[in-house]
Amino acid sequence: MLTQMIIRKLFNLRNANKRNNLKLSQRCFSSHLPELTKNRYSVKRGNYAVLTEDHKQFFIDLLGSTRVITNPDECLSYNVDWIKNVRGYSTCILKPKTTEEVSNILAFCNDNRIAVCPQGGNTGLVGGSVPVFDEVVLSTSLMNKIYSINDTSGVLVCQSGCILENIDNALEEHGLMAPLDLGAKGSCHIGGNVSTNAGGLRLLRYGNLHGSVLGLEVVKADGEVIDLLSTLKKDNTGFHLKHLFIGSEGTLGIVTKVALQCPPKPRAVNLAFLGLQSFEHILRTLKRAKQELAEILSSCEMIDASTLDVCTDNLKLKSPLSQYPFYMLIETHGSNNEHDQEKLNKFLEDAIAEEYILDGTTTNEINKMKHIWDLRERITEGYTKDGYVFKYDVSLPIEKFYSIVPAMREKLANEDTVRISGYGHLGDGNIHFQVSAREFSQQLLKKIEPYVYEYTSDLRGSISAEHGIGFRKPKYIHYSKSSGSIKIMKQLKTMFDPYGILNPYKVLP
Ligand code: FAD
Ligand code: MLT
Ligand code: ZN
Repeated sequence: MLTQMIIRKLFNLRNANKRNNLKLSQRCFSSHLPELTKNRYSVKRGNYAVLTEDHKQFFIDLLGSTRVITNPDECLSYNVDWIKNVRGYSTCILKPKTTEEVSNILAFCNDNRIAVCPQGGNTGLVGGSVPVFDEVVLSTSLMNKIYSINDTSGVLVCQSGCILENIDNALEEHGLMAPLDLGAKGSCHIGGNVSTNAGGLRLLRYGNLHGSVLGLEVVKADGEVIDLLSTLKKDNTGFHLKHLFIGSEGTLGIVTKVALQCPPKPRAVNLAFLGLQSFEHILRTLKRAKQELAEILSSCEMIDASTLDVCTDNLKLKSPLSQYPFYMLIETHGSNNEHDQEKLNKFLEDAIAEEYILDGTTTNEINKMKHIWDLRERITEGYTKDGYVFKYDVSLPIEKFYSIVPAMREKLANEDTVRISGYGHLGDGNIHFQVSAREFSQQLLKKIEPYVYEYTSDLRGSISAEHGIGFRKPKYIHYSKSSGSIKIMKQLKTMFDPYGILNPYKVLP
């Protein structure tokens, strides 16, 4: 039986979904810095200019001295990624406010062969957002204007440095919400989301950014501004160039403005947290949830027992259930709470009667939902307390979704690890698979890679479902892309950025 079936009739629409306020930038950067990327991975610096005082003076004349950061202590957080896997040593961080300033910076860098690392909220998980050597960091953190929100069409137009959570809060005033939601929403920027084609917790329902982004404004490496800022839902006039910039991780251009299609904020939100015995039962529950919850299903996530421990043991969060081998979060978004609850309850009662689910709790109370979502959204943070995290993000055929975890446990049985576990976006076939260890080790890395990519490729999966290729995966891209498509990607890179100044050492092999 469900032990804690909590069903509240009243639902506070205004605060629904306001569940994560992680201010990721407040982390302490001074402790446990990773080794410099160039040393750890033996990378050779490209033939780029070394920044001179004259170059810096140009930037100061353009932006003013407060928007050009050169103090080493202040530069540090822009040089280290969120999970402290990689570290560069840029001595110059630029903070433009306008497209024109971005354009002037890039034109100058292009003329002088200065390498540039575009950076949004620096929450990326594949080492794409920080320099590898001394690239100038172009931070969009001051490009944070929301220009318009249309209540009727649901279209928002903003600058690329707007924080996702701020966008969501502004949309709420108009009865709308952002089409994507992720644990990093208190820090990540919409431009970073677009540039990584971020997925998140609601993709199952609202689709990915190739669908939600209606238009973009982009600055090319030579400073040319390309206006692709359509706000139309339908526009079949020739090639849809915006798609090239969605997910290209800052290698083809800098996204400066975004037009986003936003759905209405749901009037009814219900959440179930379930305990299950096996992955077989998870699959049956997923199938049933899709059939029976159908149009109201908005999230379907899974967590294994070892992953939940990073929240309960490392972060001291409390689980509302006792211990089970697997857990699922199922969320519904709809317009009629009574209807949605009836559907959810019927689905759960049937699943319990047929013994798919061992235990569970449901709620539509804001604080309780936030508490449960914390157990899912704070996993990334919880892992960092184990030490070093070898992090993988793969798509696999749904029947094989979890198979990579036992396979890796067997392979690493004799290695010194803290935890090998998996969780993720079950409804999208995207598992996040982790090996944590007290510290980074080349030996462990060699045991995991390329095995993890071979495993994925043999099943015709994707070696990066949502985090991108960044610095950590270019040499493995061929496991998911044909030589023909890699060749075209290189040709496009040369066309958009002939001197390769934009985010070098990333994405392309
Ligand atoms: P950054 O990390 O700053 O940059 C990411 C990449 O985009 C870099 O290559 C950078 O050069 C480039 N870039 C940034 N801004 C621009 C721009 N304006 N123009 C051109 N290039 C640019 N990701 C998911 O997909 N789903 C999740 O559920 C998810 N959850 C997360 C939870 C946590 C706690 C954390 C820490 C991360 C999570 N991520 C997730 C990863 C990360 O948040 C996303 O990749 C996010 O989209 C990155 O946005 P950002 O602004 O932080 O970009
Ligand atoms: C998530 O789904 O939690 C994110 O993609 C972050 C991660 O994988 O750590
Ligand atoms: Zn994810």
